[in-house]
Amino acid sequence: MPVTRSVFITGAAAGIGRATALTFARKGYLVGGYDIDEVGLKSLAGEIESLGGRAVTGHLDVTDPDEMARRLAEFTDNTDGRLNVMINNAGILRTGRFEDIDIAAQLKEIDINAKGVVNGLYAAFPYLRATPRPVVVNLASASAIYGQPELATYSATKFFVRGITEALDIEWDRYDIRVISMWPLYVSTAMTENVKTGTTESLGIHLTAQDVADAIVAAVEPPLLRRIIHQVHFPVGRQTKASALSGRLPLWLQRLLNKRVAGM
Ligand SMILES: NC(=O)c1ccc[n+]([C@@H]2O[C@H](COP(=O)([O-])OP(=O)(O)OC[C@H]3O[C@@H](n4cnc5c(N)ncnc54)[C@H](O)[C@@H]3O)[C@@H](O)[C@H]2O)c1
Repeated sequence: MPVTRSVFITGAAAGIGRATALTFARKGYLVGGYDIDEVGLKSLAGEIESLGGRAVTGHLDVTDPDEMARRLAEFTDNTDGRLNVMINNAGILRTGRFEDIDIAAQLKEIDINAKGVVNGLYAAFPYLRATPRPVVVNLASASAIYGQPELATYSATKFFVRGITEALDIEWDRYDIRVISMWPLYVSTAMTENVKTGTTESLGIHLTAQDVADAIVAAVEPPLLRRIIHQVHFPVGRQTKASALSGRLPLWLQRLLNKRVAGM
């Protein structure tokens, strides 16, 4: 009999994944923290233990479907084969003019941000299916609202995440599996540390990893009204909420707005 709720998080060693792991640990969840950064995972496990929480951590490269399947099987050995929350968080960002970003770097972005999410969804399904009212959280981004210059491939991967979230939310409704995505704008993490684009200059970087972690927990455990309206996408922060509203404008106007904000 599993005694606690469980959450499996990819890219948990740093940034949003780490803040999310610690936040779920404080709430009493058994945390599965996985990443390619094993040093970061070790300190995460120590921090969770010092909070009095429980963590299972291990190496995982999300681009490897076999390793994803093995890690999920190992983690759910601790939970009687159940999984309450699956968080597809691992991601990378490359910025600059499209033609200036090395092709290998762009393909790697697709491998991690898009294929990595497919791997996570596929491997987690049997454990989610075996659990009452489970939730999948996919990290999309405000760049899934309108294609973003200077991060074109990244933005396209987040449209992929948006699409697969919408599709599986409908498809897996029959199993009572909620599939949702988070849409933060720029967050202050290692990912954005040295990033300078038209939109970082005009909009700034105002969100913290903890802001996103808190939004994830709130989305996983929503109040009744949100449950009733079945919200699928969760903009994080005031700026993203405004951008999400702009997504309802005619496309020609969205293009002009995005061009202006990007300083182009
Ligand atoms: N930081 C932002 O501005 C921002 C905004 C919107 C969405 N997001 C999304 O949030 C997620 C987390 O971003 P972050 O800002 O915390 O980034 P981060 O760089 O701080 O952390 C990402 C983590 O993912 C891990 N990782 C990288 N490649 C991996 C792989 N192949 N397999 C497993 N783990 C891997 C890294 O080791 C790192 O620990 C990403 O999906 C990102 O696209 C970030």
